[in-house]
Amino acid sequence: MREHFELRDADAAGRIGRLTVPRADVTVETPVLLPVINPNIQTISPRRLYEEFGAEILITNSYIIHGDDDLREEALDVGLHELLDFPGAIMTDSGSFQLSEYGEIDVTTEEILRFQRDAGSDIGTPVDIPTPPDVDRERAEDELATTKDRLAEAEAIDTGEMLVNAPVQGSTYPDLREDAAAHADATDLDVFPVGAVVPLMNDYRYGDMVDAVAAAKRGLGEDAPVHLFGAGHPMMFALAVAMGCDLFDSAAYALYARDGRYLTVSGTEHLDELDYLPCSCPVCTEHTPDELRALDSRAREEELAAHNLHVTFQEIRRIKQAIRDGDLLELVEARARAHPAMLDGYRALCDHAEQLERADPASKDAFFYLSTESADRPEVVRHHQRLDRLDPEGEVLLTEGNNSDNFDETWRVVPPFGPFPRELSETYPLTAEVPDRKDARALERAADGVARLAELNPDVEFTLGHRGWPESALDRVPDGVTCWNLSEW
Ligand code: GUN
Repeated sequence: MREHFELRDADAAGRIGRLTVPRADVTVETPVLLPVINPNIQTISPRRLYEEFGAEILITNSYIIHGDDDLREEALDVGLHELLDFPGAIMTDSGSFQLSEYGEIDVTTEEILRFQRDAGSDIGTPVDIPTPPDVDRERAEDELATTKDRLAEAEAIDTGEMLVNAPVQGSTYPDLREDAAAHADATDLDVFPVGAVVPLMNDYRYGDMVDAVAAAKRGLGEDAPVHLFGAGHPMMFALAVAMGCDLFDSAAYALYARDGRYLTVSGTEHLDELDYLPCSCPVCTEHTPDELRALDSRAREEELAAHNLHVTFQEIRRIKQAIRDGDLLELVEARARAHPAMLDGYRALCDHAEQLERADPASKDAFFYLSTESADRPEVVRHHQRLDRLDPEGEVLLTEGNNSDNFDETWRVVPPFGPFPRELSETYPLTAEVPDRKDARALERAADGVARLAELNPDVEFTLGHRGWPESALDRVPDGVTCWNLSEW
């Protein structure tokens, strides 16, 4: 068990955890959002973040502070908490992001980590190399080797009570990400940010983001707290949490506000184009769009940033409740409907269903079949895996439906899961709510289950009573299984 992180609840690969930050004497519940504070701008003051928005932790950039003589002296003199006027926990980044944007920075890991420690940071960061997506493999490998060296440098420094991030790089090479993660996990560093995903998110490449997180998670222990560096749009939090991310930082709330952009959980609107405000946060209940537009630019930016933060924190709370209720994937599906790129992200998540299945709780309240993608959820994979625990004998009639009491069948078939003995009808996820008008994918997955059961039990004679399956599903049922279309009876 990791000393500073405790897991409390789980759904898919998402979890509710408790991260203890000893230097701040604070324990934060994850998933958690760290608003980004630019010490020179402070669109919303850290004190307001703490008191009005309930932010228990924020992130700021030690490189900016270190590079400004006045800020540096003040930080060393009074500490970051007093400098920013923030009583919660403070994470500091190292300048790596600037390195990725401008090509060079003028501090070493040793200098900047010592500065973070001396300025009172609670979670510091070494100078990792954020290798962009799609670079050639040699560059990704070289830069990853440098990042690994930086983690070793960080381990060698006496950082006292300050926790230290161990960023996971590797560009868009899943094996490098996994290797980077396994290496980071084996250090004695504390928090594990998945790095260099900002370019993926800027290009709406949520599928690739999911693949990067999945690879990192394969290398990290289950008990490792995972930060998604630079992920700030509330639209994608549910997806990232379901993949196993625990911490997020948002600069988006302030950056978008500067451009007049208004965040929602299903995308971004522009204030100039809004006739109504589709939100009930204090900003949106106290203003009309015209009133916001009439404000001077500074006040408008602050109001928009406040709305953006309300939406962002609200989504984190909604996600935590979904984990508690066991319907996080239903929330991810809802978010996936907002944008084709999000749907791509959800489909990528389903490509990792086997990996997610290992973390996903075996029992929850209900399974709602909401889209074709529901057929590829981890619960369906698990059902198919567990068919080898069942013991059919002799002649077995498989009847489609979970309430077909008029048939004296011994087994049932519920799409998208497939077959199971009648006694299991009341167990999760076989109590699933599935629409009457089933799509082909649900029936194909059920057919896969029938095929697997038949393969596992070659001596059993199976008869399948289905309700009008299409050829694409029937083609998956082995020849030895007799099929009847019950809807024709
Ligand atoms: N901020 C956004 N991406 C990154 C990253 O990859 N590394 C660091 N240190 N900060 C970031």
